[in-house]
Amino acid sequence: MNDASLSAATMSAEGLASAGLPAEAAAGRGPLKIAVYGTGYLGATHAVAMAELGFEVLGADVDQAKVDALAAGKVPFFEPGLDPLLEKHLATGRLRFTTDLTSAAAWGDVHFICVGTPQMKTSHAANLSYVESAATTIAKNLTKDALIVGKSTVPVGTAARLRELVAAQAPAGVSLELVWNPEFLREGKAVDDTLHPDRIVLGGTSERAEATLREVYAGPIAEGTPVVVTDLPTAELVKVSANAFLATKISFINAISTVCEAAGADVTVLADALGHDVRIGRQFLNAGLGFGGGCLPKDIRALMHRANELGAYRASALLQQVDEINMGQRERVLDMAVEACGGSVLNRRIGVLGAAFKPDTDDVRDSPALNVAAALHLRGAQVTVFDPEAGDTARRSFPTLSYATSIEEAVEGTDAVLVLTEWDQFATADADKLAPLTATPRVVDARGKLDPARWRAAGWEFAGLGRPAA
Ligand code: UDX
Repeated sequence: MNDASLSAATMSAEGLASAGLPAEAAAGRGPLKIAVYGTGYLGATHAVAMAELGFEVLGADVDQAKVDALAAGKVPFFEPGLDPLLEKHLATGRLRFTTDLTSAAAWGDVHFICVGTPQMKTSHAANLSYVESAATTIAKNLTKDALIVGKSTVPVGTAARLRELVAAQAPAGVSLELVWNPEFLREGKAVDDTLHPDRIVLGGTSERAEATLREVYAGPIAEGTPVVVTDLPTAELVKVSANAFLATKISFINAISTVCEAAGADVTVLADALGHDVRIGRQFLNAGLGFGGGCLPKDIRALMHRANELGAYRASALLQQVDEINMGQRERVLDMAVEACGGSVLNRRIGVLGAAFKPDTDDVRDSPALNVAAALHLRGAQVTVFDPEAGDTARRSFPTLSYATSIEEAVEGTDAVLVLTEWDQFATADADKLAPLTATPRVVDARGKLDPARWRAAGWEFAGLGRPAA
């Protein structure tokens, strides 16, 4: 069913005509009141960014601890640049947080759904219960015309179903519209990605809803950010396709890295050479331990699942390969560690540099680094992990591993050191000073960050993923 027919089937003609732009805002009564549901990476950043763009914002979450922390000016995760902006807008009074979703629904003109869509425990499908619950709560408690804007990453077809759900729940006399506006923010660059996005995608908007969202994003639009106006399913698919493409690019270079290794070629030089072709580009061509985090792995699996449901089996098969290549990288690095330790890691001391799923975050969700560290521990190695930011979050997930507070402490007395997250400070570490701290100076670079010549010159036995042997 297309958007128009679905809308017509689920909302009154009068409702549709007046939906989108709240009358008060249209009449120029003051800044839009923006409610943001979910205050994780996406929601907290979006709420703060909306305040920075000049709106009155209420961030709503059922998690009391998160709300308390944010209301006290503390971002409950590591995200560069977010703390000062949070403090700034708590002080201006434009930004507040609450656990009372009902009154947020009654208060807001525009309602952004930013809750999580994690992978189901029993399948590859996305768990949509949080999105459904947020949409229902908003719709039920509306006291005036409103626009609901989905930002969470959802399987294609979800928004159309949500439209039916909210239309059935909204009080009589209130007209509302539900549209999709996917978010593309990266952890570690979330503030910049939200305030200065590469593109703004508006899915399923009426003219009035589009006008409201153009008002919301007037700042980035004035900077030249392109706006893509499309239907609901295309908007939903843009997001997951973007992540699937990035994941495919990483798995492509990782597949090529196995060829490089077998042929004695260097995948880092190869990636640089490929990247000079503007059609290819250098980004997301870093071979190594592969992708993890809260988005790429679950998003490609959810797309695989949905593609299968829709009968798009080739797309699903492609993503299955991408996932398999990615997970295979963890096995490759484990094998390299075992080989570096002479065939067994039992009772060997291993220093692991990196726990976060990528640099500039303390997020360890589906972290390839921690996965490898834990697997080595299970094989009987004594593993000490150091990460510049993710030590505490890692300890909470894997309390049985040992944690160091510096690179030096992590490499002390080791039989092998593994570089598993691509933090810059590992690339610039002093190979000469570190070598004498180890029992045997052996390093496995699983992120292509180290300069093999420099480490070898400092006396290290060096093994790099996709790099030639000495
Ligand atoms: C991703 C998308 O980039 C973002 O647009 C979307 O909104 C959410 O998902 P994020 O999860 O923050 O963002 O991480 P990203 O920067 O994409 O990195 C994902 C993983 O890929 C990391 O584990 C990283 O180490 C790995 N990676 C990245 C590589 O292995 N090689 C590369 O070349 C690039």
